[in-house]
Amino acid sequence: MAPDFLTGEEISEGLGSVLERAAALKDGRPRTGADSLAGKSVALIFEHPSTRTRVSFEVGIAELGGTPIVLRSDEMQIKRGESIDDIGRVLSRYVHAIGIRSGSDDEVNALAAAADVPVINMLTPHHHPCQALADLMTLQENFGELEGLRLAFVGDGNNVARSLAILGRAAGVEVVVSSPPGFELDGEEGAILISDPAEAVAGADVVYADVWIGMTEQDAESKRKALAPYRVDEELLAKASDRAVVMHCLPAHPGEEISEAALYGERSVVFDQAENRLHAQKALLEELVE
Ligand code: CP
Ligand code: NVA
Repeated sequence: MAPDFLTGEEISEGLGSVLERAAALKDGRPRTGADSLAGKSVALIFEHPSTRTRVSFEVGIAELGGTPIVLRSDEMQIKRGESIDDIGRVLSRYVHAIGIRSGSDDEVNALAAAADVPVINMLTPHHHPCQALADLMTLQENFGELEGLRLAFVGDGNNVARSLAILGRAAGVEVVVSSPPGFELDGEEGAILISDPAEAVAGADVVYADVWIGMTEQDAESKRKALAPYRVDEELLAKASDRAVVMHCLPAHPGEEISEAALYGERSVVFDQAENRLHAQKALLEELVE
């Protein structure tokens, strides 16, 4: 069975070494003779738009000596009803790994079951593990160690919140998720749920914001209304630890889920997060692709 990266739990054991390798790649310390994807191809299927995920995977694969193949799902036979199982079987005959951004977790699980090569979740309604991996790398850079950090995610209990909870738990980061009633994360991921945002960020080392309406869901005015008290701004940040950093996976809507001052202020590490997608995913690919 090829190792997959669907929720992030798959690499819990090896998380430390993947993060270490990502830091080494960022520092320009390639493994001796590193051309780890030389002669290999990776298919990247996008059913939804992307800036960071697409470019960081495409560049990362090329930097490792491999060939990325970006596939927009509306240009594939999937659009005319070809099953995801057959797509998995066929792509496995051509490529050495498949990344997919999909509006259905079931579809990604089916692809992984049918494919003989590793499948990487590049965002689904429930998970965004590549983002959380890069975020942990960013925190490691900032704080030197992950164990014992407190991260407060403020907003919708969404895919990014869930992945931070899963990978955060593996890294020893305490993840608190603060959401309004009806939009909470399920507690089973190990996150602490605190509905009051001020209480959630009290003493936090990291304050994390994400969009209120995700790309895989329909816009809803009622959801925006419910989330209005959950904006990350200077007033909320003042309640966090003095050393707290601000995170956002991007794309952001300044003035909605985060204030402009918080997003671009001196505590913000959002563009480091974006950069680290590249390094973290290169380390992940080295770990998964044979
Ligand atoms: N953070 C992130 O996944 O960005 P994209 O949607 O641009 O890929
Ligand atoms: N939660 C967001 C993440 C975007 C990278 C979404 O699903 O659109």
